[in-house]
Amino acid sequence: MKPQKVLVVGAGFVGSSLATSLRSGGVQVCCTRRQEGGEGTVQFVLEEEETWGNLPKEVDGVVWTLPARPLPQVRRFYDTYLQSILDSKKPVIVYGTTGRYQVDEEHQWVDEKTRYGQTASGREEGEDFLQEKGANVLVLGVIWGESKNGETRALKSWIEKGYIKDVDIDKFLNVVHVDDVVKATEEILHRSEFRGQVINVCDGHPMLWRDIILWFGFELPQATTHDPNVTATRLLSRPSKRVSNILLQSIMGKDYKFKMAMDA
Ligand SMILES: NC(=O)c1ccc[n+]([C@@H]2O[C@H](COP(=O)([O-])OP(=O)(O)OC[C@H]3O[C@@H](n4cnc5c(N)ncnc54)[C@H](OP(=O)(O)O)[C@@H]3O)[C@@H](O)[C@H]2O)c1
Repeated sequence: MKPQKVLVVGAGFVGSSLATSLRSGGVQVCCTRRQEGGEGTVQFVLEEEETWGNLPKEVDGVVWTLPARPLPQVRRFYDTYLQSILDSKKPVIVYGTTGRYQVDEEHQWVDEKTRYGQTASGREEGEDFLQEKGANVLVLGVIWGESKNGETRALKSWIEKGYIKDVDIDKFLNVVHVDDVVKATEEILHRSEFRGQVINVCDGHPMLWRDIILWFGFELPQATTHDPNVTATRLLSRPSKRVSNILLQSIMGKDYKFKMAMDA
């Protein structure tokens, strides 16, 4: 059953694109922003409970795009709003990040069963709490593409602007196009057999920063030439990981093609 009325909490980069896509498919959508008076949105601030009354009383599904933290506030929001939705077996989707996965080996592949833990963001305990109550957690890679909010995120421009000057070129980057996040979210919204699961949302083709930089015709940064001491420190601090999307590919169908950042 496709939901007829969906609440998208947070009309940011992904949320605004998701809302546009759902609306074009005939779904009634309510979106939120933190500021009052945003066009086509209602005000909602997780930490300001007086704004919660702006949310629609009845919806068939919720997509929560903001980080699920702090836990006490997430619990309060569950008690006040999400519980009745989840109890009536309607979908609730919450976005997480691949930063949750903890790996021991450099370049290790990770899937949804890989060990994960709390990061400094503190969002994972909120994600766990909501998952236990029946929500899906979509674990997103780095998002690129052009959003319906007018913002563009592109690997090439990150390199041009020098955002990656401290990056370790021998680490993998796991990415996903915003349109694929939207399509995956829409699919999972009406696939009740996957309720309550964690699902990775990446293109399944992790890329080394080194290859990305060279592909776009830039020179490799000087500071990251091979110094065995630097490499050893990096290996100890945070091993690189490659995120599998096999589960998502099976949900989307074997012929579904994810957009590739290198093709762009
Ligand atoms: N960007 C990435 O590469 C990436 C990678 C992995 C995972 N993620 C995660 O995926 C999700 C979506 O990413 P995005 O790039 O679409 O994020 P975004 O553009 O920052 O949008 C987040 C939305 O949540 C709203 N929001 C934030 N804090 C809030 C609060 N305390 N109360 C109420 N609303 C709040 C924001 O409101 P305003 O519109 O008023 O600002 C915004 O609409 C996020 O959870 C992000 O952490 C992102």
